[in-house]
Amino acid sequence: MNHHHVHAILLRYLPGTLAETSLDHALADCGLSRQSFQLHHLPDVIAKLESSIRLFVDGPDQGKLRSELGALGGLSQRRALSLDIVEEADVSRARLLMKRVCNDFGISSVATQKCVTIVSELTRNIVSYTSGGSMELEVTASPRRICIRAKDTGGGIKNLDQILAGAYQSRTGLGKGILGVKRLSDDFQIKSGPSGTDIRAELGW
Ligand SMILES: Nc1ncnc2c1ncn2[C@@H]1O[C@H](COP(=O)(O)OP(=O)(O)OP(=O)(O)O)[C@@H](O)[C@H]1O
Ligand SMILES: [Mg+2]
Repeated sequence: MNHHHVHAILLRYLPGTLAETSLDHALADCGLSRQSFQLHHLPDVIAKLESSIRLFVDGPDQGKLRSELGALGGLSQRRALSLDIVEEADVSRARLLMKRVCNDFGISSVATQKCVTIVSELTRNIVSYTSGGSMELEVTASPRRICIRAKDTGGGIKNLDQILAGAYQSRTGLGKGILGVKRLSDDFQIKSGPSGTDIRAELGW
């Protein structure tokens, strides 16, 4: 998500140079450049575009343009995505997706790193110990929350109590993945049984 998305919408309602200057002025009014613009700046930029919309866009089109920009702005308030997790490459995809969404919201690098670590651990477990599952991400701007959910239809986690108590000796890894996720989260829930595992990690940002 970047300035191109805003530009593309403006171009449908304004001639090229006018779309360009309107966007650049709105960005400058917000103290931004095309490079520094991020999705979370969108509500402010849309507000600054209002004078151009009134001046240059035909009356009947003004409402349509406002609602198209508003829909884009909605993405800066809430994002929900899901990804199937089956193979090792899906772990990298999930990490990248998490990083991008954090970047779009302007989430701090510390919180981003926590989220990427959580996504890594949970998706890698799905790939290592089950035949597949999914990861769901939801980020909201008010309240500032990130929810990461990993679900699979594997055989469930044995020794869960031991794992959560830090007393588990893993054969395949350090055995600290799930406990690490719990420690990084503000709210952590896990349901696991013979028909699968469902883990939910929530953080404020
Ligand atoms: N989704 C899952 N389905 C079934 N079993 C799982 C699942 N996730 C984890 N496990 C089991 O729980 C154990 C502990 O997982 P955890 O992620 O905490 O450590 P680990 O994967 O063994 O090592 P690492 O520290 O490298 O993650 C695993 O060894 C595995 O046996
Ligand atoms: Mg693990």
